Amino acid sequence: MPLGSRVIRRLSWLAPLLAVVLVAACTKDFPQTTLAPKGDLARIEDEVFFETVKWAALVFVLVEGALIYAIFRFRGKPGDAEPEQIHGNTVVEVIWTVIPALILAMIAVPTVKAIFKENETPKGDALTIEVVGHQWWWEFRYPEFNLTTANELHVPVGRTVSLKMGAYDVVHSFWLPQFAGKRDVFPNRETRLWFTAEEPGEYTGQCAEFCGIQHGRMAFRVVAQPAAEFTGWVDHMKSITMQPVTTSAAPTDSVHTSSAGGGARQAAAPAPQATDSAKAQTGPAQDPLVAQGQKLFLMKGCVGCHSLVAYNAPKGLLGPNLANVGARTYIAAGTLPNDDQNLAHWIRFPQDVKHGVLMPNLGVTEDEAKALVAFLRTHR
Ligand code: CUA
Repeated sequence: MPLGSRVIRRLSWLAPLLAVVLVAACTKDFPQTTLAPKGDLARIEDEVFFETVKWAALVFVLVEGALIYAIFRFRGKPGDAEPEQIHGNTVVEVIWTVIPALILAMIAVPTVKAIFKENETPKGDALTIEVVGHQWWWEFRYPEFNLTTANELHVPVGRTVSLKMGAYDVVHSFWLPQFAGKRDVFPNRETRLWFTAEEPGEYTGQCAEFCGIQHGRMAFRVVAQPAAEFTGWVDHMKSITMQPVTTSAAPTDSVHTSSAGGGARQAAAPAPQATDSAKAQTGPAQDPLVAQGQKLFLMKGCVGCHSLVAYNAPKGLLGPNLANVGARTYIAAGTLPNDDQNLAHWIRFPQDVKHGVLMPNLGVTEDEAKALVAFLRTHR
């Protein structure tokens, strides 16, 4: 084999390393990367990862370097005598046992420390949030505020969040790659996780344990907000009632409407505070379409599974809480961008969008879906 090809073959191990570096460099296109931590727990995990990679890289370079050196320096020629055999050399064997043991110890100490830290229950002013996994969506309850919501986890930046987690049906795994790694949730056992968000923004997370045919469509979003904004969100959520909110300039299609994909996942959710301030009034629906939607929501049985209030919401309902569904970025647990067309399609053909989902096909007509969408849009 020519020398050029040999060199290329020898350096081919650089390719995966280069790929990792490139992925790390463009995390915008990989919203679920674990290489761009935005919270303290994820940062601890990231440090353990890179500590391990550092030692592994050092061992790799030294061993491969010695191998390549030996190949060229001590290349045998025809007629050479048998090289000296070192099998059973105590000194050499002690050296190559002690060095790996020391390196493993260097990796084990930070790893074990991180495992204990991760399993601590946060003390002091932590915000407790209950997480419940359902086939196939996430319920979030805030006992401190008596609020319930679904598929969008709002957290304050800078205040530690203590998650008490369980599952309604089967085993799921709650995974927040940029905040806290992942942890399984069980129907009959409580697991816990904690993190402190460091930067405001919208992040993605998803179920990471196979939990049925729609496991892949069990995503959620984390909305990290500065403290004041988070308090505003809590107050706003408390103010939502069953009644539609009528607005003089109903922003029915102001929700992000671009097609699914990397770009859409970066879109910011519309701020609920903007809509409930000046122009919103609560009361009987002014818009006939909204009024029709409100009636249909009761008549079609939607109300049997979904609550439209977040504050003091009934527990044990089968469907996700819809109090602010009109303002969410995605519907059906991260399956579709929340625009009017998708929402109407989801209401009419839930089994087409997410086969096997508990929501039945209720025989909603195209016009009825329009009215339901208009009504749900007022819940933001
Ligand atoms: Cu829930 Cu996978």
